[in-house]
Amino acid sequence: MERITVQTQPIEGQKPGTSGLRKKTDVFMGPHYLENFVQAIFTGIGGVEGKTLVLGGDGRYFNDRAAQVILRMAAAQGCARIIVGQNALMSTPAASNMIRIRQTDGGIIMSASHNPGGPKEDFGVKFNTPNGGPAPEEVTNRIFDATRTIGSYDILVSEDIDLATLGETRLADMVVEVVDPVADYAALMEKLFDFDAIAGLLKGGFRIRFDAMHAITGPYAKAILEERLGAPAGSVVNAVPSPDFGGGHPDPNPIWAKELMDVMYGDDAPDFGAASDGDGDRNMIVGRGAYVTPSDSLALLAANAHLAPGYAAGLKGVARSMPTSGAVDRVAAKRGLDCYETPTGWKFFGNLLDAGRATLCGEESAGTGSDHVREKDGLWAVLLWLNILAATGKSVQQMLDDHWAEFGRNYYSRHDYEGVDNAAAEGLMDNLRARFDSLPGQSFAGRTVASADEFAYDDPVDGSHSAGQGIRIGFEGGGRAVFRLSGTGTVGATLRVYLEDLCEDPAAMHRDPQEALSDIIAAADAIAGISERTGRNGPDVRT
Ligand code: G6P
Ligand code: ZN
Repeated sequence: MERITVQTQPIEGQKPGTSGLRKKTDVFMGPHYLENFVQAIFTGIGGVEGKTLVLGGDGRYFNDRAAQVILRMAAAQGCARIIVGQNALMSTPAASNMIRIRQTDGGIIMSASHNPGGPKEDFGVKFNTPNGGPAPEEVTNRIFDATRTIGSYDILVSEDIDLATLGETRLADMVVEVVDPVADYAALMEKLFDFDAIAGLLKGGFRIRFDAMHAITGPYAKAILEERLGAPAGSVVNAVPSPDFGGGHPDPNPIWAKELMDVMYGDDAPDFGAASDGDGDRNMIVGRGAYVTPSDSLALLAANAHLAPGYAAGLKGVARSMPTSGAVDRVAAKRGLDCYETPTGWKFFGNLLDAGRATLCGEESAGTGSDHVREKDGLWAVLLWLNILAATGKSVQQMLDDHWAEFGRNYYSRHDYEGVDNAAAEGLMDNLRARFDSLPGQSFAGRTVASADEFAYDDPVDGSHSAGQGIRIGFEGGGRAVFRLSGTGTVGATLRVYLEDLCEDPAAMHRDPQEALSDIIAAADAIAGISERTGRNGPDVRT
């Protein structure tokens, strides 16, 4: 086996975004593109010599080829061991768990999460640190710096490594340990949740439907929901991971998981529906005719997590990203819990979880998780919901009704404008920035602005400062509009407008969110000139 040094040069645009580097697959497959970025990761973490890493991916197109390249580069550079999921598959939360239980020096996850996969779609690579979480900015900055100074990389010339057979092989001096990607994760879930209670619920005729969206959670959900918990075969649908996710968009929201929504809002709907995304860290929860927004799900889980064995001792605190609704804050206030507001991106929860300041975290972008790993975790959220439903005997709708009655309802919606011209999107944000002083006191669509600023975060654990994390417009009497540009898109800019209004009137808890938020929506458009600046009549996606 020959080790060679390949000459290369920096490639523009390899700056990791909200969650690693995501690009069109053909970009990643271009000359040196993957290799340069992988080398930059290795350089950014001080080299891989003598280290142990986890490697896995969500099975999207190029996942298998990329794994071979990463293994050859690691072996060429003296890496001691790589623990790789069978067929190079592993969900993001399972990889986080594997990094933690095997105490590795981190891991590489090949995924573009909820973005579509295929030769014309997206691919991605991200590095997770030894705590199991996405690399913080200090690390991604070092990785980015390395992409700008790279001159060569070392790689082995070798046959493909067999990743289908469980067990250990060697690649030069490096051990390649192929593991079952499901087993350890399933064992962790069994520790956290009352599997007997959930199995009893299912035995009693409670029907569930889990839509794996042709992505990575298929094998996990089959093993846990059907095989261990006894849900009837077929409860998990679209369960075989495919390189292009069945041609779909593996993002669990009412738009992209429409198939599930139709079933759950149709005749003879099951009692509980859920879906997860490409790499298994997002979740969507829907009861019979009852969609649960991610922000409400976080609040409801925070209020009831103690019903599951893993959280019986109570929560140390909760955290949410800034654009996520304040529903969880209301739970925290009533229950006397600390509540943290962080920038968008799961990596910002890592320090709070490590320091034992928060147990539960969540984001409006369909992410919920806890300190059991350092990533958000789709199936975990599903199992916590099921555990709570089993413990209370309530339906999803009843849970929501009772929650809103106790805490009030934060009506919430996110409007996305995708593929917007970059300059137009930046212009919209700059225009808002320039008006922070003049906006308060002005009225738009009948709502008066109370505050306008740009969110910045000072990490209470390590003191790091993150600026430019989204523009917040607060309205008198409560209500809020937040403007942010997505950090995960691959084409143009995605403008996200997050809309929220608190309702405490018991007679008004069941309005359509778009209607309940109509004046906030109109005010947001009037303030930012969205339609005028983007040239769009309305959003591409409403969550
Ligand atoms: C990924 C991250 C999340 C983040 C989401 C949306 O899923 O892991 O933490 O909330 O992307 O990010 P974006 O920048 O596209 O709004
Ligand atoms: Zn994901």
